[in-house]
Amino acid sequence: MTIPMVKAEGVHKSFGAAHILKGIDLEVAPREVFCLIGPSGSGKSTFLRCINHLEKVNAGRLSVDGQLVGYRQKGDKLYELRDSEVALQRRDIGMVFQRFNLFPHMTAIENVMEAPVQVKGESKAVARARAERLLDRVGLSDKAGNYPTQLSGGQQQRVAIARALAMEPKLMLFDEPTSALDPELVGDVLDVMRGLAEDGMTMIVVTHEMGFAREVGDALVFMDDGVVVESGHPRDVLTNPQHDRTKSFLSKVL
Ligand SMILES: Nc1ncnc2c1ncn2[C@@H]1O[C@H](COP(=O)(O)OP(=O)(O)OP(=O)(O)O)[C@@H](O)[C@H]1O
Ligand SMILES: [Mg+2]
Repeated sequence: MTIPMVKAEGVHKSFGAAHILKGIDLEVAPREVFCLIGPSGSGKSTFLRCINHLEKVNAGRLSVDGQLVGYRQKGDKLYELRDSEVALQRRDIGMVFQRFNLFPHMTAIENVMEAPVQVKGESKAVARARAERLLDRVGLSDKAGNYPTQLSGGQQQRVAIARALAMEPKLMLFDEPTSALDPELVGDVLDVMRGLAEDGMTMIVVTHEMGFAREVGDALVFMDDGVVVESGHPRDVLTNPQHDRTKSFLSKVL
């Protein structure tokens, strides 16, 4: 039996009185492209943020590659990890947001080199060599010296992907990576993600790109109001949804 890359069991999350995640159960297998869709406010970003412990879950268990996120278990008791231990866990998880969040005062290649040098203490020469390879992989070798303001949105997003990959994560989380882009820039970013999928990266992708989900996704979950309503192979869920809520959502986005 292979260990799931991500396993959520009865995950609950509230913000004050607002109950946002209401018992999420799901499993993401290694090398799987796992797509997450659902209406605005259904809790998709919150769930991603729980996976890398930017948010603490209120109940349930969440593990990445067999390790509990944010906790250590001794007997049947859970102990919170120290910040430094959480930071170590987070190193293995790359996250790409809707907004690219590049460091504005650094060039593309400096953005990609930053974390390995600062967080892992890697030499600049090693970090630079990797950053060059990664920028090549996302099709931006010729933009290494550009600052974020000198790049299109799509190019910035591809630098953001290269920056996340520089930490050599075992899991990549994408939160609507193309939804802030002009339509003509979306394709290049999706192509980079498709390449990552072909190379076997485990990815959870929150997206409204149903074409991508259908072609590249191995699994798809429809979430509404903090629960998983329906899940299955993307082709099945998208072409033959079983639940009224899924049908109604898809009729609006397809
Ligand atoms: N830090 C927070 N404090 C209070 N409420 C929050 C916080 N973060 C999220 N929420 C609330 O949780 C709910 C779910 O938000 P979330 O961002 O997870 O939705 P989403 O499915 O990603 O939506 P969208 O498609 O618009 O990105 C929303 O009602 C939001 O207002
Ligand atoms: Mg969101």
